[in-house]
Amino acid sequence: MKITVVGAGAVGASCAEYIAIKNFASEVVLIDIKEGFAEGKAMDLMQTASLLGFDSKITGTTGDYSKTAGSDIAVITSGIPRKPGMTREELIGINAGIVKSVAESLIKHSPNVIIIVVSNPMDTMAYLVHKATNIPKNRIIGMGGALDSARFKYRLAEALGCPQSDVDGMVIGGHSDTGMVPLIEKAVRNSVPVSEYLSAEKQAWVVEETKVGGATLTKLLGTSAWYAPGAAVTALCQAIALDSKKMFPCSALVEGEYGLKGLAIGVPCIIGRNGIEKIVEIKLSAAEKAKLEESAKGVHEVNNLLDASVAK
Ligand code: LAC
Repeated sequence: MKITVVGAGAVGASCAEYIAIKNFASEVVLIDIKEGFAEGKAMDLMQTASLLGFDSKITGTTGDYSKTAGSDIAVITSGIPRKPGMTREELIGINAGIVKSVAESLIKHSPNVIIIVVSNPMDTMAYLVHKATNIPKNRIIGMGGALDSARFKYRLAEALGCPQSDVDGMVIGGHSDTGMVPLIEKAVRNSVPVSEYLSAEKQAWVVEETKVGGATLTKLLGTSAWYAPGAAVTALCQAIALDSKKMFPCSALVEGEYGLKGLAIGVPCIIGRNGIEKIVEIKLSAAEKAKLEESAKGVHEVNNLLDASVAK
């Protein structure tokens, strides 16, 4: 399996690092526009191979997409990250132009590639990749829900005072501070609904902290996070590489599922060798459904902004 990671910044480098450590890819190609940057990160990472015990080969290139040829998966992390106080949506103008040209270059050299979109605003960037490339929808995966669900589990475990391995939960909807829909009614600790352990106030706290998970980190770090985004990408790549049919909420192009269409938004997906192999329509409560619909409205609004941006 050959995996290209576009952008050798903090997120891209974390993706390459975790993918290599997990040892399921024969080849990882890091590509960046900054002269020598991807080559340097790749060399540094390769010098950890004997220490960490992986055989994946990591190479770097400054903008030479021919080196990415024949990739099975490509991860797009390029674009500018959030600064404190910025929303993901404010990045649209700059990132749309970058993501569009990156996607086109990737497809040119790897016509069968599965694209994982990380750049923000993530749902709109996934939608843009659909529009720009016209490749089958199963091959475009927006990463947000996998990350947001990990942050949900972190907060659930914190509130419950238990290890994260005890909890399960999922976040659907848009990857934005207002658009995320953490499915708290369905969250469990060892099969038992968390409502049996947590007060309504504590559950509301978990939901709110999950939704602003990225913003909290941006405030602390001065830029957006990279470890958990890198780990979320890696989990998706591993599910594809192993054809595991694991379920992750991902930003997928919906065509009537959940009553939504014409946008990419976080919904539960089965991930396997063909990318998004199925969108799973779970039963939502009336409150959950209303929140998802509200979230879709927000994503549509940002998608409309896209048409007014450079990437027409
Ligand atoms: C975050 C960015 C990757 O949520 O959107 O940290």
